[in-house]
Amino acid sequence: MNQQHDLLNVRHASLDEAKTAMSTLLEKRSSNYSLDAQLYNDPHMFRIDMEEVFQKEWLFVGMTSEIPKKGDYFTVEIGQNPVLIVRDAEGKVNAFHNTCRHRGSVICTEHRGKVANLVCPYHQWTYDLKGNLLFAGTEMNKNFDMKQHGLKSAFCRTGGGFIFVCLGKTAPDDGFDDFLTTLDEYMEPYDVENTKLAVESTMYERANWKLVLENNRECYHCAGSHPELLNTLLEWDDTEDPRAPQDFLDHYNAQAAQWDAEGIPHKHQSFGEIQRNRIVRMPLKKGTKVMTIDGAAACTKTLGRIKNRELELHAHIALTQLMEPHAI
Ligand code: FES
Repeated sequence: MNQQHDLLNVRHASLDEAKTAMSTLLEKRSSNYSLDAQLYNDPHMFRIDMEEVFQKEWLFVGMTSEIPKKGDYFTVEIGQNPVLIVRDAEGKVNAFHNTCRHRGSVICTEHRGKVANLVCPYHQWTYDLKGNLLFAGTEMNKNFDMKQHGLKSAFCRTGGGFIFVCLGKTAPDDGFDDFLTTLDEYMEPYDVENTKLAVESTMYERANWKLVLENNRECYHCAGSHPELLNTLLEWDDTEDPRAPQDFLDHYNAQAAQWDAEGIPHKHQSFGEIQRNRIVRMPLKKGTKVMTIDGAAACTKTLGRIKNRELELHAHIALTQLMEPHAI
């Protein structure tokens, strides 16, 4: 017992030291430069990232169209936390820790499925689609309060067909309501809610999560690293950027006039004090229609209320991305 206690203290001391070191490194960092190496590869700092970012922020986990009917569910892992997303009888999307309140077994062991109730495979404790405990066997003490043993829920919100989850004790509200409202408006032309999941593929990046996100925030690397992306994608997505070239602005303005005529929102918008999320609708390169390798249409059907194929719509929506990050 004492030895175990000592081990815990060592671990906590290291973590506290890492927190102090992290604060110092962040305070002295130079703007527009990469972070200090420790912030990328120190295992204690990685653990702090997991606790302070992935277990406290809103994360995009999937689309509402993946679970169109009552009882449809999918599961995700957020760091070491198994999470279950399920649609209930009223059509609401709920998120729960995918962990039984009895002895902690994973409840839904498949990635996707459909259930009437959520039944733990270990001893068959049974929960409804709102996480309420319905059945806990016949051996529980008569004082056992079923109401106190429902599934642990996570914050769950939807907007524009996207599902977001937050595992924190409180959820950050820094502009998030405005973000969801705007996301609804920007995605409305596509009617994403009524799309169907046709194919699923999972890509695991063996990479440092901070480098992946940094990479996502610039297209400076695109021409050298994956030029095929630039067959259709414009390197710029911010009309307010003083470096944006005139031919980009001219192209954008011509497209924007058409969008305005069709009542399709497009302006670049950021949300919250620290601008966690942004939304913008951008045209693709002149002469291309969709993001295929050659820019030619891959499907004759258009989404939602979009009828004019020349009015190609590319909603570039920057969200906090769900990932299963690793330290290196
Ligand atoms: S662990 Fe789930 S019923 Fe026992």
